[in-house]
Parts: sequence; structure tokens; C-alpha cells
Amino acid sequence: MARLFCERMPETLTLYILNGPNLNLLGVREPDIYGHETLADVQAMCEAAADGARVVFRQSNHEGQLVDWIQEARTEADALVINPAAFTHTSVALLDTLKTLSIPVVECHLSNPAAREAFRHHSYVSLAATGVIAGFGPRSYELAVRAALDLARRAGAQD
Ligand code: DQA
Repeated sequence: MARLFCERMPETLTLYILNGPNLNLLGVREPDIYGHETLADVQAMCEAAADGARVVFRQSNHEGQLVDWIQEARTEADALVINPAAFTHTSVALLDTLKTLSIPVVECHLSNPAAREAFRHHSYVSLAATGVIAGFGPRSYELAVRAALDLARRAGAQD
């Protein structure tokens, strides 16, 4: 049967990009692992990669604030990129909130947690993520933005 594609244009999409604890210190925090770019640099890369989509880019050190923003994304966003930072490995609350979403969710990490300490090998967030991009430094965000927007655009395609 013929497929009818009615993909959405990027400029009609809203992408939420949420960042967890200590990512406000990017550039000065363990630069050998996380690089020299600041979070403002990462935001600029995301906006450049977003192809005209509206980008809502935020960071918090507080789990509850991230829960509130994920809940907001449930009704306001077409896709979500999230780097939960240390909450990746600890937060059932973030997992439960992400499970309420029906939009694509891309988990994003600068480093490759699977190649680091054992406690970083488990991600609660991955249980609710559409996919994971990790290990490419700030470029992980660029790839995550492209993946999230691609998924969101295709969400408009019908059989
Ligand atoms: C991180 C990896 C996490 O294990 C760590 O706690 C972070 C950053 C990353 O982007 O590589 O804070 O999410």
C-alpha cells in the first residue's frame, strides 16, 4: 500500500533541551572529560543544528525542577533532548516523568558513560528514551538535536 508522507516542517516544531546538575560548569569542570566549550557554546551549537525549529534550552541542578520542565515538555514540545548528568544514574523520578511523554526522547551525554566507572553504566533514563547519543563531546548535542527533529518530523507521516 502506498505511504502518504506529510512530514512536518522544522519551523513548526518545538524542541526542549534539558540539562542536569553541574552542566552549568561546562568548560571549567573536568575539561579533560567534558571539553572546553561552555554550556552557552553548546546552546549555540544546538540552535544552529535546529534548522529553524524553536529551541527551549535550560539547565538546573535540581531534580524537581527537571521534573517540572519534563512535565511542561509533555504538552509544549514535539521532541526532547535531555542530558540528565548525574541524575541519569540515580533518578527514578526523572524516569517516571519521562514515561508520561509521547514525544521522541533522546538521551544525550558528552562523555561515554559505558566506558567510565561502573556506577555510570546504568541509566534509569534510557528505559524511557527513544535513543541515546553519547561520547562525542559537544557534538553529541548536535547529533541528538538532529535525531530528535528527524523523529518529530516523521511523527507526522501516515500509512
Ligand atoms: C554526563 C555523564 C554523567 O555520568 C555525569 O554524571 C555528568 C555528565 C555527560 O554528559 O557525559 O554529569 O551526563
